[in-house]
Amino acid sequence: MTDRSIRTLDATEIRSANTLFRATLHEPPAADDVWQRSQRTYQAGRTLGAFENDTLIGTARSIDTTLTVPGGAVPMAAVTGVGVRADRTRRGVLTDLMATQLTDCAERGVPVAGLHASEAVIYGRYGYGIATHHRSRRVTRHRAEVRSSAPTDGEVELYDLDTALTLLPDVYARVAHSRSGMLDRTEHFWPMWEGHFRKASGLMRLAVHHGSDGPDGYAAYRAVTDNVVDDVAVMHIEDMAAATPAAYADLWRALLRVDLITRVESLWQPLDVPLEALLTDHRAVATTGVEDDLWLRLVDVPAALNARTYGGGDDAVVLEVSDPVLKSNSGRYRLSASGCSPTSEPAQLALGVDTLGMLYLGGWRVADLVAVGRIEITDASTADDVLGAAHRLLVTDSSPWCGTFF
Ligand SMILES: CC(C)(COP(=O)(O)OP(=O)(O)OC[C@H]1O[C@@H](n2cnc3c(N)ncnc32)[C@H](O)[C@@H]1OP(=O)(O)O)[C@@H](O)C(=O)NCCC(=O)NCCS
Repeated sequence: MTDRSIRTLDATEIRSANTLFRATLHEPPAADDVWQRSQRTYQAGRTLGAFENDTLIGTARSIDTTLTVPGGAVPMAAVTGVGVRADRTRRGVLTDLMATQLTDCAERGVPVAGLHASEAVIYGRYGYGIATHHRSRRVTRHRAEVRSSAPTDGEVELYDLDTALTLLPDVYARVAHSRSGMLDRTEHFWPMWEGHFRKASGLMRLAVHHGSDGPDGYAAYRAVTDNVVDDVAVMHIEDMAAATPAAYADLWRALLRVDLITRVESLWQPLDVPLEALLTDHRAVATTGVEDDLWLRLVDVPAALNARTYGGGDDAVVLEVSDPVLKSNSGRYRLSASGCSPTSEPAQLALGVDTLGMLYLGGWRVADLVAVGRIEITDASTADDVLGAAHRLLVTDSSPWCGTFF
């Protein structure tokens, strides 16, 4: 009889977990030099192994970070490195790993967990919902010019990858709280970032905007030679954030000035950055994709809901939340501008904890999730009032966005 167990791995076991995880992504084991870097992404005590007898058959891990939420920030477990050996899938191994990991987060007092999903059908059952999206855009460089009325405030300086690694953590920290959904990139995040740029083709450059109060924006890009078009290159902007409109405009001025670039692929940016309106020709920009970004799971519903602020003035709504995994979250909560508290009042909206994760950063309209049957209105006669109140409470000024891959 097979005996299955889940436990935390120690430092001597994490390379095996990494090898197993890479195999689930169809990648070979990390070479020694790659492992030297990758092992720095593993936070001690945060890697789980699933064992069949004494054999490792699955793994999941997390990194402690902080998530920017409307009006504040909340501790978050950034979940990554999830994989189950291909000959042991679909028999509940991930389900056990997720239950152990979420219980551990709850016991450690971490109110929120977040992840990027390889497939959209995996994580909803564990209470995760899509909280942010990102948009990729293609800019035809010869048509693209920043409008002269756009603000300006400083200089843009270019750096190579080695210098970027010493500069960017501090620059990123200056912009890390400029939008809901952004994360603190702790020491465990940067080796992943470095790994990506070292592995990717093309010349990597970091453009940093130095504004009147110091660095306040950056763009990390690769220029990839496109042999189809006579060795002219395509610029892939793979990481970019700006704390001010002037930093955003100045970065684009500098990026569009780089010679021998036919087009710019601006990847994985917030839905609502006004790039089209920044340029003299709207049609120099085309959206090439909108995809899910950060999935969030409220581990402690009242603590998570109390970590953000709400609009709505005197509005209040009563939510009935169901959580099949962390059952203590199930119950009724009154949400108002003063926060969230358990209540015995009748529920007005009923929803699963995964849908609450979608609403948490204001990235979805409540009415839209009602329309598709993800939220139930308990009394149809008050629907308009309840929907209006819920919308005013939860809505935010800008689209939430994560922008950190892990
Ligand atoms: C995704 C993965 C970890 C799932 O592991 P698993 O042990 O097979 O998952 P479980 O057996 O616990 O699945 C639980 C449920 O989710 C479903 N499920 C899990 N992964 C699924 C997938 N990729 N597609 C469709 N359904 C999936 C199962 O069918 C099962 O449904 P059921 O409860 O109705 O029977 C595994 O397939 C894997 O390693 N995939 C490749 C690597 C990967 O994508 N990792 C995730 C990185 S974000």
